[in-house]
Amino acid sequence: MSPRAEPSPEVVERLRAAGCVFAEDEARLLLEAAATPAELDLLLTRRTSGLPLEQVLGWVEFCGLRITVRPGVFVPRRRTELLVRRAAPLAAPGSVVLDLCCGSGAVGAALLAGEPAIRLYAVDVDPVAAACAEENVSARGGTVFTGDLFTPLPPDLGGKVDLIVANAPYVPTDSIERMPREARLYEARIALDGGGDGLEVQRRLVSDAPEWLAPGGRLLVETSAAQAEHTQAIFARHGFTARIVRSRTLDATVVIGTHERLQRTARAGPATPGAEPAPR
Ligand SMILES: C[S@@+](CC[C@H](N)C(=O)[O-])C[C@H]1O[C@@H](n2cnc3c(N)ncnc32)[C@H](O)[C@@H]1O
Repeated sequence: MSPRAEPSPEVVERLRAAGCVFAEDEARLLLEAAATPAELDLLLTRRTSGLPLEQVLGWVEFCGLRITVRPGVFVPRRRTELLVRRAAPLAAPGSVVLDLCCGSGAVGAALLAGEPAIRLYAVDVDPVAAACAEENVSARGGTVFTGDLFTPLPPDLGGKVDLIVANAPYVPTDSIERMPREARLYEARIALDGGGDGLEVQRRLVSDAPEWLAPGGRLLVETSAAQAEHTQAIFARHGFTARIVRSRTLDATVVIGTHERLQRTARAGPATPGAEPAPR
């Protein structure tokens, strides 16, 4: 329907009654997305039943891009733009970049949009997410694999990856039930569940990363403010020198590391991995 059409008060009221805080804005987006009044009614029914707006619309804005999202696929959050902001300057033309736990492929797609001459690989264990990433990443020249962390990658990428970015699940299992309903009910559990302390996927990812990184390569992992020091300690345990970067505006935290063994071509000396503190 016409993007200029104003939503009727009934449409806004239906959304408001269902608990949509930004009812006017949502009404406008749904109106724009619907080709006919019948379709608008269908979209409204989906939205008022609780489906996240982005999954109803089929897209989300991320780093200025319109990223396709499919039902069940994790909706990229604004906070993950910090991961992109920190990774983008490191993604030089020709470099090999890996978006692990890619979900919709939003991070990889944003990096490709910033520097189309990178070789971008993206991996997700969930075939629904990987199919969604195909739409967002392949069209921009990236390649998507389905499988557990590094396992589906071509072995000859070993030791050649310049940059690994990951927003892996980091919610502690017991905290999932306290998440907003939209996430709990409409995003795949595997997209959220980071195990007992939330850091189990991060541990496996950081432990395997050195095998794939090129000399001087970087690993960037999104985490929460509360878990940041634990994530940093996981990096240290696996031989990385790592720092924590935060954005108050985005309410976002990223840990950035370089591996000590992979720096040793330039700098001699043994790695001094730190101890990981007990989870809180
Ligand atoms: C929090 S979501 C993040 C998605 C995307 N990176 C983003 O920021 O929008 C985590 C993603 O990790 C995927 N995932 C979970 N465990 C995985 C594993 N062992 N290997 C690969 N992907 C995994 C989930 O399917 C989900 O798509």
